[in-house]
Amino acid sequence: MHAIVTLTVNGDRRQAGVPMHYTLLETLRYALGLTGSKQGCDKGDCGACTVLIDGEPVLSCITPVWEAEGREVLTVEGLASAAGPHPLQEAFGECGAAQCGFCTPGILTSAYALLQKTLTPTRAEIRESLSGNLCRCTGYTKIYEAVARAAEMMAEAEAVSDPESTTEREPVYR
Ligand code: FES
Ligand code: FES
Repeated sequence: MHAIVTLTVNGDRRQAGVPMHYTLLETLRYALGLTGSKQGCDKGDCGACTVLIDGEPVLSCITPVWEAEGREVLTVEGLASAAGPHPLQEAFGECGAAQCGFCTPGILTSAYALLQKTLTPTRAEIRESLSGNLCRCTGYTKIYEAVARAAEMMAEAEAVSDPESTTEREPVYR
């Protein structure tokens, strides 16, 4: 049995007819063609499928698509903008933080959620934010360094955009 689900994905309102049992990951990959989020373990263990719903990381492989109905979903495809790659993506390249790359989309989205909360994360906060994301290749150190580097880049961009202001303002990067 199929039904129509409506989501906002990376800022666009999307509708798809999907089987009632579909997960959010299946909907993104097989109904909407967004294959950046990876289908790794498919049982909630590896974090390769991590996306954000209303700004919070979720494992899309174990999230029924109906839980995302009417909500804001951000996938790795939504990180870059017309201006270019997101600082996280630049920093991952700069620091050599991706090898095979299978874990990278989930790690980028988890790190993105952290950097929406703070641009001065401690190493412990970075580790904690990525504790649900497994990487078989890198040993994690370069990943942590890349997230710290991205935070610096974003903080520098904020300072350049408005050096005088001490009040809340729109972030330079989403
Ligand atoms: S694919 Fe979802 S946690 Fe592994
Ligand atoms: S870069 Fe290969 S699993 Fe992380």
